[in-house]
This record gives sequence, C-alpha cells and structure tokens, in this order.
Amino acid sequence: MNDTQQEPWLIRRDLDFLNHGSFGATPRCVIENQRHWQNQLEEDPIEFLAPERSLLPKLDFVRQTVAQELNASPRDIAFVRNATEGVNAVVRSLPLRAGDEVLVTNHGYNACINAVAQAANSAGATVVTANIPFPIQSPDEIVRAIEHSISPKTTWMLIDHVTSPTGIVLPVAELIELAHSNNIRVMVDGAHAPGMLPLNLNELNPDYYTANHHKWWCGPKVSGFLYVDEKSQGEVLPSIISHGANTEGYGPSKFQCQFNWPGTFDPSPLLALPTAIDFLASLYPTDDPNRLAGLMRHNHDLAVAGRRVILDKLKLPEPVPESMLGSLATIPIPAWTNHTSAQIQALRTALRTEHRFELPVFRLDAANVCLRISAQTYNSLDQYERLADAVTKLS
Ligand SMILES: Cc1ncc(COP(=O)(O)O)c(C=O)c1O
Repeated sequence: MNDTQQEPWLIRRDLDFLNHGSFGATPRCVIENQRHWQNQLEEDPIEFLAPERSLLPKLDFVRQTVAQELNASPRDIAFVRNATEGVNAVVRSLPLRAGDEVLVTNHGYNACINAVAQAANSAGATVVTANIPFPIQSPDEIVRAIEHSISPKTTWMLIDHVTSPTGIVLPVAELIELAHSNNIRVMVDGAHAPGMLPLNLNELNPDYYTANHHKWWCGPKVSGFLYVDEKSQGEVLPSIISHGANTEGYGPSKFQCQFNWPGTFDPSPLLALPTAIDFLASLYPTDDPNRLAGLMRHNHDLAVAGRRVILDKLKLPEPVPESMLGSLATIPIPAWTNHTSAQIQALRTALRTEHRFELPVFRLDAANVCLRISAQTYNSLDQYERLADAVTKLS
C-alpha cells in the first residue's frame, strides 16, 4: 500500500479543497463500508432488499443512530435522499389555501425555495421573503427581519439552520418559538447542521426538520432524514408514492411505512452512516454526551481562524460575528464587487486551475461578490493562508 491508500480521506492532495459544504466528502473507511453493503445486496438481492425480509431492521438500526445524534424519537424520523427531497415532501403535502402566505428568507437555498414557490403557486398562496442583512452584527437582526415579514396570513415558514450562501447559524430556537407564538408551522432546512452543530430536536420542537447525511456527517452520497412532529405526520407524504400507500408491514406507522420504500433503491449510503459517525467521533474523543462535540469545536475553530487569516491579509472587517458561525464562512471581497459574471467565472477558473483551490466564488447580491470557505478535519490553516495570497493576487 502506498501513502495515498493509507490516507483516511480520498480528497486529492494536489488540491486545496475548501468546499466541504457543497457535497461533503466521505472518508475511505465509509466508502469501504458502503461497498460491503452493496456486495451483500448483490450476493442475495431479494433477501437483502425486500422490506419484509431483512431491510427494515437495518433501516431501523440507522434510524436509531440518527435519532440519538438528534436527540429525537426514532418514531419521528423518515429517510429521504437529501434535504431538497425532505423540503419537497413537506411543502407538497401542506394544506395551503389561496391567500395564505408562506415565509422564506433571502439566504435560503434556491432549490428549496423553488419547491416552496411551486407549492404556493398551485395553491394560490404567496411567498414572502424576509430580508436578512449581510453583513450582519447580531442574531437579533435575523429575528427582527423575520418578525417584520409575518402577517396574519402567514401559515408556514421555511428557515435554514445554517445558511448556504452566507454560512450564518440562524437562531432557530428563537425563530421556532416566534413562529409557534404566531400559530405558524415551521420547517427547518438543516442541510448543513448534523455534524456541524449540536442538535436537540426534542428541545427545539420544530414541526419539520430535514438534513443531509452526506454533508457534515460525511456519509456516502446520497442520503438524508426528514423529522416530522408526531401531530403532523398524518399529512406528510413522501415525494414518491409507492407500495407503502396501501401496504402494511413496511414500517411501524403509516408515516414510516410510506417513506421506507421509495421503489427499488440503493440503501448502502444510509447503511454506511453509522460507520461515518463512528469515524468522526474517533477523531476527537470527548467526554461530552455529544460524541461529535470535539470535531465540531475543531472545525468551528479552524473556520474562524481561516477566515481571520483572509480578513487580516485583505484588511477587511468581519462580515458576521464569530459566534454566529459554524464551520462555513463567507467573505465578501470588495475588489470584486463590480465584476461581471464573466469576470467572476474567470476568478473561479483561475482559483481552480492556476492556484489549485476548490471553493465557491459567487455574487450574493448587488453589493457583494463573495467566496465561501469550509473547514473540515482534513483542512489546515496553511490552506487558508495560501488562499489569502491567491485572493490578494486576484484582487
Ligand atoms: C441550506 C441547504 N439546503 C438544501 C441543500 C440541498 O442539499 P441537497 O442538494 O443534498 O438536497 C443545500 C445544499 O447545499 C443547502 O445548503
């Protein structure tokens, strides 16, 4: 075995990969575990895949693992392919009526907002966008922006736990309380949260929460979960209607029965998730009941330190307080503000081909062209130092 084969991560070494946030990255041992499941499946496909034979107990084992990490009941958790599917399942099941308002934010994820817009349009409801400022100084600005956008017609809202373009950790506990005190049901798009932030869904008490396993839990692509509070489970249907709609025995409740079988599928990404979480937990052992607390702290500290290196080198103020970040950070680069799309594309190409970086560079709004850094355990501070030098050259 050469050196590369012993590396725990498969990320290529000739690249500074600072974009864990987009699709995650999966450790070697997890991919091996996924292949093990795929081999078992192919050795005896019917025995392995038929829900009434050996699949359901395997899914339930993963569900237990997920529930434990989320501090939630396994009863309230279904599996989906990804957060986009989780949001789709909920919004397409909502009993929206003409005249209702549904609330999203300007830092929301485009695919999910599209799903909300589609559901609202077909019901004759309106999508209202709350404007979260950027740069930002405190979580209160977020609460105020959302409060300001609530009206007596608001029935439902979608908020992100960690915003994709800006890496801001929203004050979800406060926002859920605010929604509930206004009789609004709230869905949290937590795509980035598991593995980045401690989660306690029992305490948070959202109506719906969805997230990816393949981002910061580093599971294989593609898998995620959808949590639905017990009182709403009766009305949430999966995006794919399959046998569970009229077949018993695919799960202990109608909710899980419907989600457990989306038609023939490859369950290996799901089944390899416990190995991914065990691997991450083994990197930074801790006495904390949250076994990923050490990893989360490490990644947060690295993101903050990496951002600091770039801000100092470019003499920029911090756009978001450190306390509002997880392990993603977005930095607006003033020298790029007036760049055209072609110039922004040229920056991406130069960063990738000349400087060997992988990270998003994008226009956030009229005032901000930004880059977004991620910090995962395979990253190191010298990568952000090199990035600061490259950005200086490109500014
Ligand atoms: C906040 C947020 N929601 C949803 C998604 C969609 O994830 P997926 O494409 O895996 O469904 C992303 C992806 O980056 C995201 O950042």
